Amino acid sequence: EEKMLHSLAVNVMENAYVPYSKFKVGVAIKSGNNKYYVGCNVENAAYPQGICAEAGAISAMVAGGCSLISEVLVVSEGDRLIVPCGGCRQKLSEFSTSDTRILLATITEIEKTLSMRDLLPFSFDKRFLNFTE
Ligand code: THU
Repeated sequence: EEKMLHSLAVNVMENAYVPYSKFKVGVAIKSGNNKYYVGCNVENAAYPQGICAEAGAISAMVAGGCSLISEVLVVSEGDRLIVPCGGCRQKLSEFSTSDTRILLATITEIEKTLSMRDLLPFSFDKRFLNFTE
């Protein structure tokens, strides 16, 4: 199960388009309805237009008709274990529960598992918005 997420993420990481940072990231999501989605980072000559791997995987999931992340695994090539950037924590939280599992991995193994509650405490979410349904 976790091995599946890990191999999907490691595989898609190879497709990362990173001519500027040379830092490849791969992400695999298992959705609430047990489907798998992947994403890699896609950089741009206009640097701020680059897209993180998490954003790509989330977009694929939503395009596939799913709106709940059950587990998400992030992997990079570096020696240091990767953690999702602040913006990606916010993006992930939109489609997570506080128990959504965040798996952090190197190419060889999953090194850390935490919950969304741990990854992004005190998060801003839709409950703060004043809207009526
Ligand atoms: N990056 C991700 O794809 N996800 C993260 O959580 C951290 C950073 C990418 C963005 C950029 O292409 C490269 O890693 C270096 O910052």
